[in-house]
Amino acid sequence: MKIALLPGDGIGPEVSAQAVRVLEALDLPGVEMRTADVGGIAFRNHGHPLPKETLDLARASEAILFGAVGDPACDDLKRELRPEQAILGLRAELGLFANLRPAKLFEGLEELSTLRPEVASAIDLLIVRELNGDVYFGAKGIDTLENGEREGWDRMSYRTSEVRRIAELAFRAAQGRRGKVTSVDKANVLETSQVWRDTVIEVAKDFPDVALEHMYVDNAAMQLVRAPGAFDVVLTGNLFGDILSDQASVCVGSIGLLASASLGERRTDHGTFGLYEPIHGSAPDIAGKDIANPMAMILSAAMMLRHSFGCEAEAARIEAAVAKALGNGVRGGDIGGEAGCREVGDAVLARL
Ligand code: IPM
Ligand code: MG
Repeated sequence: MKIALLPGDGIGPEVSAQAVRVLEALDLPGVEMRTADVGGIAFRNHGHPLPKETLDLARASEAILFGAVGDPACDDLKRELRPEQAILGLRAELGLFANLRPAKLFEGLEELSTLRPEVASAIDLLIVRELNGDVYFGAKGIDTLENGEREGWDRMSYRTSEVRRIAELAFRAAQGRRGKVTSVDKANVLETSQVWRDTVIEVAKDFPDVALEHMYVDNAAMQLVRAPGAFDVVLTGNLFGDILSDQASVCVGSIGLLASASLGERRTDHGTFGLYEPIHGSAPDIAGKDIANPMAMILSAAMMLRHSFGCEAEAARIEAAVAKALGNGVRGGDIGGEAGCREVGDAVLARL
C-alpha cells in the first residue's frame, strides 16, 4: 500500500498524526508511507505550494492522505502561488474527477445540528461532486475596461464526457445505497446546466433500477435544510457541490466530522487511486494548540482503506471506533467538548 502523506498547513499536521496512529494500530501488511510538503509550508520550503517532488510522490502512490492547506500569511501572494492551488493542482494533475462527501448524523449528536433533531437524524446522504471542470478550471481573468473599471470573469463549462463519467459514478453509488440520485443544476438559467441535465438523463437510461430527480441548486439548498432525509445521492458540478457540501456538513453537526474521497480513473490492485481529506480546512486560528478534532481526518483514512485498498473490514472498524467514541461522550472542541487532538486520537485507538 503506497501512501503519500501530505499533512499541509495549520491543523493539517496534528490531525494527520492521529490518522497515522490509527493506521499503524491496524498493523496492515505492506504499508509504505512517505511524507511531503504541500500548501503554504511547501511555498515556504520550496517556493511553490505544489512542488514537483510532492507531485511526483503523489503520482507514484496509490493513495494520498491529505491534511489541509491554507495560510493567511499567503493571502497576498499571486493566485498561482497560494496554498489552495495545491489541492486544485492535485485534483487536475491527477485526474481526480469525483469527490465523494458522505454526510450522516452520528448517534448522540442530534443536538449539535443547527436543524431540529428529528430533521437532522434523518440525514444519510452522499454528495458526488465533479471535481475537474466547471467554472473552477475554465479561463479566467481580470480586464480593465475603457472607462477604467475592472471586470473579473470566469468561464463556466461542462462537456458531455465530463458529465457522463461523474454521473455514472453517482448512479453506481446509488445502486449500493437507497437507489436515488438527485441531480443538481441551474438549467433554468445556464447552458452549462442544460448540457449537464441532458447528459444525466442519457446516463440514467443505463440504470433503470435507480430513481432520478432533477433539482435547481437554489431549491436544493432549501431542501437540504427543510427535508434533508429525502436525499440519497446528490450529483452536482464543482461549484454547486462546493457550496452544498459545506451546508450539508453543519446539518450533521460539525465540519470536524466529515471525511471525503477524491477519486480518479486509475485503478490500484484492490481499488481506485484517490486522495482523502477532511472537509474542514487548515483552521489557522487553532493550529498547534492540540485542540483540533482529528475525527474527520481519521475517517478520511478509513475511506482510503475502503476505496483505494479494498480493506472494507478495517475501514468499518475505524468508523465504528469513531462512532463509539462519540457515543461514549468523547467530544472535540468543535462539538462543544474539551478533548484535545491527541486525546481524541487516544480515545479512538482505545475503541479500535
Ligand atoms: C473544498 C475547498 C476547496 C474547493 C478550496 C480550498 C479550493 O473549499 O475542497 O471544498 O473550493 O474545492
Ligand atoms: Mg469547499
